[in-house]
Amino acid sequence: METSNCSRRFYKHLAMKTKSQAYQKYTKQDHEVWKLLFDRQIKNLSDKACNEYLECMNILKDVLHANSIVDFKKLDNKFKTITGWSIKVVDGLIPRDEFFELLSQKQFPSSTWLRKKTQLDYLEEPDMFHDIFGHVPQLANKDYSNFMKKFGEMGYKNRHDEQYVIRLQRLYWYTIEFGLLNDMGKHKIYGAGIISSFKETNHVFDKDIIVKPYDINQIMDTDFIISTIQSHYFEIESYKQLYESLAEIQ
Ligand SMILES: [Fe+2]
Repeated sequence: METSNCSRRFYKHLAMKTKSQAYQKYTKQDHEVWKLLFDRQIKNLSDKACNEYLECMNILKDVLHANSIVDFKKLDNKFKTITGWSIKVVDGLIPRDEFFELLSQKQFPSSTWLRKKTQLDYLEEPDMFHDIFGHVPQLANKDYSNFMKKFGEMGYKNRHDEQYVIRLQRLYWYTIEFGLLNDMGKHKIYGAGIISSFKETNHVFDKDIIVKPYDINQIMDTDFIISTIQSHYFEIESYKQLYESLAEIQ
């Protein structure tokens, strides 16, 4: 089930090992899968993703598009002129401390492998489409970028406080992976776990879901269930609110 794997996205981000993107090794089929995923989901998101996400995609359109698999070097160069983030290629397990440290240094960890055509909607663990299409565009937004950097700093600073780290995991889950944004009364999505998944996206709009107003301390006290499909969400008003809420943690 797609949702149960989202937990692994988070833990994977907490635990990965370094390598580089061997761009020339991507096959014609890999590029076709990327195009299939990109075209299908960008169309699906046109009235479902928040404007901030779509604006960021537009900013990155010359290096992040359907026509070819994203080249991390080009993406890094583009970000130098925007918010200064870069992609850290990872594969395998590294300590979660490193995940926090990477974010604090404005480095976002990403896989380089891509799912096969036969598994478009089923993943054992997050692939490059989830990591890049789902997570990276928002990093072009100043407030979102500030949130991610500060989140990393807080995690790294408190890395030896197990309870604090658990609370940060919940925050990550309900915002970065499964967050919604209120756009004049309409639910829009920004969480990467939703935005990179055709099924998760449509689940938000097809089913009865519970949407609660954003409350960072409530979120950090709310366990998430990884074995069932997501049924409740927290909705921010803006990325600015998301960033500024970090100062309200009790
Ligand atoms: Fe993720």
